[in-house]
Amino acid sequence: MSFQLSDKFGRKINYLRMSVTDRCDFRCVYCMSEQMTFLPRAQLLTLEELEILGSAFVELGVSKIRITGGEPLIRKGILQLFQNLSQLSDLKELVLTTNGSQLEKMAKSLREAGVKRLNISFDSLKAKRFQEITRNGKLEKVVRGIDAAIQTGFERIKINAVILKNRNHDEVVDLVQFAVDKGIDISFIEEMPVGVVNSHDREEGFYSSEQIRRDLSRFFTLLPTTETTNGPAKYYQIPNTTTRVGFISPHSHNFCDSCNRVRVTTEGRLILCLGQENSVDLRRVIRANPGSTEPLKQAIIEAMAYKPKGHNFDLAAQPNILRYMNVTGG
Ligand code: GTP
Ligand code: 5AD
Ligand code: SF4
Repeated sequence: MSFQLSDKFGRKINYLRMSVTDRCDFRCVYCMSEQMTFLPRAQLLTLEELEILGSAFVELGVSKIRITGGEPLIRKGILQLFQNLSQLSDLKELVLTTNGSQLEKMAKSLREAGVKRLNISFDSLKAKRFQEITRNGKLEKVVRGIDAAIQTGFERIKINAVILKNRNHDEVVDLVQFAVDKGIDISFIEEMPVGVVNSHDREEGFYSSEQIRRDLSRFFTLLPTTETTNGPAKYYQIPNTTTRVGFISPHSHNFCDSCNRVRVTTEGRLILCLGQENSVDLRRVIRANPGSTEPLKQAIIEAMAYKPKGHNFDLAAQPNILRYMNVTGG
């Protein structure tokens, strides 16, 4: 029988989120501060090291890898990484979270390189507001990217909307209608207090999934489903459409009990929980053992003992997670 990573609470770890760059062409207000310092390139894992890591995790029972960032598609050579990872025979799903800015030109190559599903950050349908939330983003360009992805034909495409009170909460119905019209899925996300952001007060900006469901129920029927992507979202189906509406609700619905994932940062730090700081330096292990993946696999297995039970996010307090969201890719 093949090996399956698990932690001390008996949770199977079969999902790896791998951040390939901390850089991004956007500066979303909930993710970064306006002035950011990015890692020097020498500190990043090389593409070859990322592949070694992915392959070690797959040998240990990981069947889903999501590539995250920053913005993964601005990393040079990224298509080659997708191509190589997609050759791993025990990897069932190779998926990507992107801000969509490069999709217009890259959607087709990504599909050809083995990417099955795409999650695209998309918080507003109003150009000025889109630019304010992302501090840099051009709505039209991202919409063209979404259209290119739809035309390419991925197994599923989902837009992610982080909803903040008084910034974009009035758009939840329009965002769902957009997803319905395009025949894609949408997830609404409660903001998490990761990294110190300077644009808004996170407690005041809280807009719960429950409130969004109430807003939507005036226009749409939401049928609960048991469907899962093995991620944290709880999904509803809109009858007579292909659209599923997901809710990622770290505050109002804690999903830590069924957590099946770990993350690796661009520097090769294994983060065992998005809401906790503890981590293990896998880059050191890779670089100390060229040509041998056994020590790396051993380090990963041992690290599972440190996976905490869950997060203790508190919107009212100063964030206890100081790293920004672009370090882990969410
Ligand atoms: P799929 O389920 O595969 O579609 O992916 P996903 O929705 O989990 O991934 P995505 O990268 O689109 O992330 C959406 C949101 O879920 C982001 O805000 C992530 O930070 C959040 N998220 C993903 N995993 C976790 C987790 O383990 N804990 C918490 N608190 N949030 C998570
Ligand atoms: N809280 C919740 N979601 C966030 N994301 C980025 N920062 C935060 C945050 N503080 C989301 C992005 C992207 C996904 C990877 O994480 O919108 O879709
Ligand atoms: Fe970039 Fe994604 Fe962070 Fe926005 S949420 S700044 S698109 S990494």
